[in-house]
Amino acid sequence: MNIQQKKEKLEEIRKELIKAKKAPLYSYRKENNYLPVPGEGRTNAKIVMVGEAPGKNEAETGRPFCGQTGKILDELFESINLDRESVFVTSVVKDRPQKNRDPTKEEIAWYAPYLDRQIEIIAPKVVVALGRFAMEYLFDRYGVDIEKKTISELHGSVFEGKVGAQRIKIVALYHPSASIYNQKLKSVIKEDFKVLKQFV
Ligand code: URA
Repeated sequence: MNIQQKKEKLEEIRKELIKAKKAPLYSYRKENNYLPVPGEGRTNAKIVMVGEAPGKNEAETGRPFCGQTGKILDELFESINLDRESVFVTSVVKDRPQKNRDPTKEEIAWYAPYLDRQIEIIAPKVVVALGRFAMEYLFDRYGVDIEKKTISELHGSVFEGKVGAQRIKIVALYHPSASIYNQKLKSVIKEDFKVLKQFV
């Protein structure tokens, strides 16, 4: 697929999400004048970052990681001299859950096929799961057997994933929002981020 075709396919996804009346969080979106947050970044990015679900700032602007957590993510990108514009940033769930509650299994199952398509179109070298929800979904989707291990055991390592003919590397990191009140965790995430340099 050339870059123009990729752009068009990603745009199709964005349009589908806007019209997705059956989306479990569609009525909440409309009641609050929120926007879906499909994700944004380079069409042929080598790195795709996957968060959990948009927060308030994101739902108000339609842009991923643009609030307080986004600032942390920007600092992390900067710490490894990586341009945010050179990666693709998105999340598993594409609408904001009420009061930032955890997404439900049903919501994850409903929105995840959009993420699957984005990853297939972009075909990055690595997909980075930010936090537990993205990690569990991506490991499951790409057949990484984690034997009930948690993110505290798995963060920062590179795993091989596969679905059909598509092979992909997956890295799980703590969600940057977890570091807002925890400086120790912030240094762990910063250290883990260095693992991404090999994919640039
Ligand atoms: N957390 C996420 O997982 N995604 C965002 O876009 C913002 C915060």
